[in-house]
Amino acid sequence: MHFPTHTILALTALAPLTEAHPRPPQDAKTGKAVYAITNSDNNSVLAMTIQADGKLGAGKLTATMGKGAVSMNAMGMSAPTDALVSQSALTLAGKHIFAVNAGSNTVSMLAISPDDPTQLRMVGNPAAVPGTFPNTVAASVKNSMVCVGTSGSRAGVSCGTFDQRNGIGEMRQISSFKLNQSDPPVGPTNTVSHTFFSADEMMLFTTVKGTGMANNTGFLSTVPVSMAANGDCEPMVGKEVRSSPNSTAVLFGSQAIPGANPPKIFATDASFGAAVLSVDSTGKAMTVGKGEIKGQMATCWAAISPATGTAFVSDVGVNHLVEMSLKDASIVDTIDLSKGASAMNPGMIDLRAAGNFLYALSPGNGTSQAAISVLDVKSKKLVQNADLGSLGVRNTAMGMAVLM
Ligand SMILES: *[C@@H]1O[C@H](CO)[C@@H](O)[C@H](O)[C@H]1NC(C)=O
Ligand SMILES: *[C@@H]1O[C@H](CO)[C@@H](O)[C@H](O)[C@H]1NC(C)=O
Ligand SMILES: *[C@@H]1O[C@H](CO)[C@@H](O)[C@H](O)[C@H]1NC(C)=O
Ligand SMILES: *[C@@H]1O[C@H](CO)[C@@H](O)[C@H](O)[C@H]1NC(C)=O
Ligand SMILES: *[C@@H]1O[C@H](CO)[C@@H](O)[C@H](O)[C@H]1NC(C)=O
Repeated sequence: MHFPTHTILALTALAPLTEAHPRPPQDAKTGKAVYAITNSDNNSVLAMTIQADGKLGAGKLTATMGKGAVSMNAMGMSAPTDALVSQSALTLAGKHIFAVNAGSNTVSMLAISPDDPTQLRMVGNPAAVPGTFPNTVAASVKNSMVCVGTSGSRAGVSCGTFDQRNGIGEMRQISSFKLNQSDPPVGPTNTVSHTFFSADEMMLFTTVKGTGMANNTGFLSTVPVSMAANGDCEPMVGKEVRSSPNSTAVLFGSQAIPGANPPKIFATDASFGAAVLSVDSTGKAMTVGKGEIKGQMATCWAAISPATGTAFVSDVGVNHLVEMSLKDASIVDTIDLSKGASAMNPGMIDLRAAGNFLYALSPGNGTSQAAISVLDVKSKKLVQNADLGSLGVRNTAMGMAVLM
């Protein structure tokens, strides 16, 4: 594998810290660009530059050569807002973007131009995913590996290797979930939520929502992964372990907590708020602490801010962001965005933190326009509500990624 020098340096800097020496909150540098997918029939990646003041500049769309899709609600009707019932419908690894095409059962790889982060180029063809309704994707530079969660009639996780010349190799299913789902699936419960790597990229986690009913509480799937041997195109994965952490039921968007040893996960749970999970050496997770958010509708997306050392969670049905502790998920602050420039947003979905800012996608409801809300995490003030409607982005939009 040929890693650019800066990638190796970045990986060295990411060496796990022990709990005795936690990383202090810091002013990380401002990001360069944000990305989301339109998840439309002509699925495209939306790229917008981040200016020096943290605000978003001009946007551009690049087709993924695949189709988006929309899940159904319990009444069997199309449910376009949070269409993929997931976090991370696209992700970044180094200078590459990986995006799911839920309507064509593929995943696309795009290269970001070094001169302009909104200039994207497809690398190879979209790779077929052995599953249906791919709705979440994780990628690891360290392992040259991309893993996709699927949530339809063939639900599970599939992984493949990638390289910057040929794109994504053959995807192979590494776990299968018996969700008894249809294509498209009926959500939002009883679906795959989020596939993501541990902070050291040596474990792949996937959250799966239960229904909240007896014997169906949802679970965390943990799979050890390792670097592909030189020239070996097969992703190296170990034995999968599943666990239902105590007091959780509908696990959703999550993030591995940087520097935590043993590994910890900050996880939302749509049924109450969020929890901090600790993963033991066998791969099983238990709940360290939980935070219940009063008046929440569906707390489903999480991002850890390096500038504050806290997590921010969003709710598709309530126009607020809740800041929570990485220690025990207790509530630090609630930021109401229902007034001012963001007043028309019904709620927010996928979000990412970069520098002193947070970028949260509000897909709108078809009447209100899609937008990205930019929050200053220090002052807790909205600095911009960037309209996406004029770019042709509708309420099927999903995902959020930030290039640093
Ligand atoms: C699909 O979207 C891309 C931009 O994302 C655009 O350039 C292209 O013209 C569109 N194709 C069709 C057939 O609409
Ligand atoms: C699976 O789903 C079908 C409807 O799609 C339903 O009729 C059947 O009872 C379900 N089976 C189980 C075991 O839940
Ligand atoms: C839950 O599972 C147990 C053990 O498999 C079974 O005995 C019980 O009937 C199940 N309960 C429900 C409500 O399905
Ligand atoms: C979960 O279980 C562990 C181990 O039994 C316990 O220490 C912890 O307090 C429990 N957490 C919650 C939120 O119940
Ligand atoms: C969409 O959201 C706007 C602003 O929050 C609200 O006024 C409108 O009633 C909503 N429309 C639908 C169809 O839910």
